[in-house]
Amino acid sequence: MKRSSLQEQDCDKPPGSAMRPKRPWKVAVLANIKEKDMPRPPGVPPDAYSDFDYIDTVQVIQAAIETDGHKTEFIMADEALPYSLKKYKPDICFNIAEGLGGEAREAQVPALLEMLKIPYTASRVITNAIALDKTLTKRIWRDRGIPVAPFQEFVTGDEPLRHDLHFPLFVKPTSEGTGMGVDMKARVDTAEDLRERVKYIIASYQQPALVESFLPGREFTVGQIGRQDAKCFSRHPEWYHSNGFHRFPILELNTDRSVTPGIYSHAAKAQHLGEAGAPEYICPADVPTELGKKMYHLALRGHAILGALDVSRVDIRLDIDGNPRLLEINPLPGLTPDYSDLCLQAAAEGIAYEDLILEILYLAAGRWRLLEPRDIFAKKGRRNH
Ligand SMILES: Nc1ncnc2c1ncn2[C@@H]1O[C@H](COP(=O)(O)OP(=O)(O)OP(=O)(O)O)[C@@H](O)[C@H]1O
Ligand SMILES: [Mg+2]
Repeated sequence: MKRSSLQEQDCDKPPGSAMRPKRPWKVAVLANIKEKDMPRPPGVPPDAYSDFDYIDTVQVIQAAIETDGHKTEFIMADEALPYSLKKYKPDICFNIAEGLGGEAREAQVPALLEMLKIPYTASRVITNAIALDKTLTKRIWRDRGIPVAPFQEFVTGDEPLRHDLHFPLFVKPTSEGTGMGVDMKARVDTAEDLRERVKYIIASYQQPALVESFLPGREFTVGQIGRQDAKCFSRHPEWYHSNGFHRFPILELNTDRSVTPGIYSHAAKAQHLGEAGAPEYICPADVPTELGKKMYHLALRGHAILGALDVSRVDIRLDIDGNPRLLEINPLPGLTPDYSDLCLQAAAEGIAYEDLILEILYLAAGRWRLLEPRDIFAKKGRRNH
């Protein structure tokens, strides 16, 4: 469906009526699964597969969807996926698959679903592909005036450092998530350390290294859900502002007393909430009104510029002058209850996990025309003009 057609479509239901599909859907939950203490082939970095989900997360998503009367099935997002989909014939897929490696892995499942013409949740192919590549994301944002830290991509590791980049710098793999490749050595203070780290990232993660100015300020993440026509399909139209978006309370990650002070690293992310060495998750973050507004505005622009759909989480750090700089966007944010940032943000304002999951499903169902739109204008009598 063309994105522009969404804004023009009719909304036929009276406002406030409960949003219900005509019949329950068959929903396939698609994921890549990790197991505790999973064996890793030689040469694979120790934090490989960290962005995969535990089966428990899939099961709670299934349970959430079933509370609304739908049937669900978990389908592993592996090489057999096309055959499993043909067999199950879902009406829609709830996609949390990270992909099986190779370029643009988070776009693999969306691309397959497009080919098979099966509806699915959240962002589509191009957004998922670009968002996985932090360098490309930053190039696009920078060109559209979004503040990002100055950066340079290293492909071989021998490239001369650009003159406008000054130590301390921060080195990370360009296409990983969940803090993979990020530890206390990610911050480098000398040319020698920079070379060593860049070469380590390129060799271990088999991809370019992204080098950025080190941002010394506070760290936040901004979650958002919605779309211009979200109220037409939402189970909770009251959540949304007039622009169609709901902004979750901003979450601050205070890593000062974590296992990696000052860095929200892979190791810090792996700690359980409240455990010694875990970051402090502060939601809603205590920020001056202007800074909060600025971060919401930038996160939404970052989402819109990349064409993200329905849900995303944008990570932000403050620079030395206290100005927000966007780090990256997660169009497939983690959805593990009581653990993933977006779930903590939703819980902080009293949104039940089931409602969060069903909202993501309903917004997608609306886009793929599995739902009759609600008439959000009827009350104001604008429809008959
Ligand atoms: N330029 C920077 N300066 C300081 N710290 C940084 C910088 N870039 C990244 N970090 C730190 O590294 C962490 C991980 O970086 P980033 O968010 O880019 O990657 P990620 O692993 O993809 O995250 P996610 O788990 O959200 O997918 C950040 O949360 C932040 O603490
Ligand atoms: Mg991040």
